[in-house]
Amino acid sequence: MAATTENLPRLKSAVDGLTEMSENERSGFINLVSRYLRFLYSLSINLLLLFLSDTRMVFMFITNDVDVSETKNLLDKLVVLKLNGGLGTTMGCTCPKGVTFKLKLVGYRSSDGLTFLDLIVIQIENLNNKYGCKVPLVLMNSFNTHDDTQKIVEKYTNSNVDIHTFNQSKYPRVVADEFVPWPSKGKTDKDGWYPPGHGDVFPSLMNSGKLDAFLSQGKEYVFVANSDNLGAIVDLTILKHLIQNKNEYCMEGCLALADVKGGTLISYEGKVQLLEIAQVPDEHVNEFKSIEKFKIFNTNNLWVNLKAIKKLVEADALKMEIIPNPKEVDEVKVLQLETAAGAAIVGKIIQYR
Ligand SMILES: *[C@@H]1O[C@H](CO)[C@@H](O)[C@H](O)[C@H]1NC(C)=O
Repeated sequence: MAATTENLPRLKSAVDGLTEMSENERSGFINLVSRYLRFLYSLSINLLLLFLSDTRMVFMFITNDVDVSETKNLLDKLVVLKLNGGLGTTMGCTCPKGVTFKLKLVGYRSSDGLTFLDLIVIQIENLNNKYGCKVPLVLMNSFNTHDDTQKIVEKYTNSNVDIHTFNQSKYPRVVADEFVPWPSKGKTDKDGWYPPGHGDVFPSLMNSGKLDAFLSQGKEYVFVANSDNLGAIVDLTILKHLIQNKNEYCMEGCLALADVKGGTLISYEGKVQLLEIAQVPDEHVNEFKSIEKFKIFNTNNLWVNLKAIKKLVEADALKMEIIPNPKEVDEVKVLQLETAAGAAIVGKIIQYR
């Protein structure tokens, strides 16, 4: 049975029977699948056009300096959020990326070593101590990473960092040839489910109630980064620039050396967009990998205005490009639909001077 919109009512009623899902998860999932089915064909056409058309680069130069005395005021508006929903499978491990690696720091006395998450907490702790502020750390976990992460979080209950956690959505994998949710066919263990990529951070942050709580505390921006990227530190010049210019969204890009993993920024139909390798048709993959054509890569360090998130999620206006991820699990071909947080950049061309 093909993946067509005719299958949608059946899929809907199957999902209604999955008691593990919340109302928000059900509507989010159905929304994602129907968008996927509707745009299945236009997507590949768009991509073809894209490769025929010329691509342009967007440069960002940040030149502001930050006065030390205003630092605390800036930081009081900030929340740091780490994307901690993924397992370190590409690093050869089935535990959360944030707790995958223990680093032994030279000169550090602990014989246990430190995990990425420990180091992230220490980074924020130092920031708070240095400037007398209270930047909270938020971890977006998935059902795969929640338990292991909680053990580390508990170590820091008495630290100078308020650590908040919430789970991202849990969606059912879809059996590819029948187009039904796998758990409805009896696959009720963890493998029947998946976290739908980090694009889910925006609705999940809001549905957790954390977004409203931070807004009521006067927070304005969230700095989002991958939990396995220790280079993702708070850059005050960017924060100042965004507040001054009332920018809603900023992505830290970098000039590509050889890596295509985070996706690349493209200019298409007059809009800046994120293009991930999974969205590229096979015949164009080499072109995508050639850094001649695509020069700026997404670091996935994102700065987003909290009110903008609320407004866009409430209006259901964050229609991020869908990344289909077909897999074979226990010899069953399944499909999981994902989105990337960087894809929310659509239409926001920010040209720094
Ligand atoms: C997050 O997921 C874990 C693992 O499935 C679960 O034990 C925990 O209760 C969830 N937390 C919330 C706030 O729903």
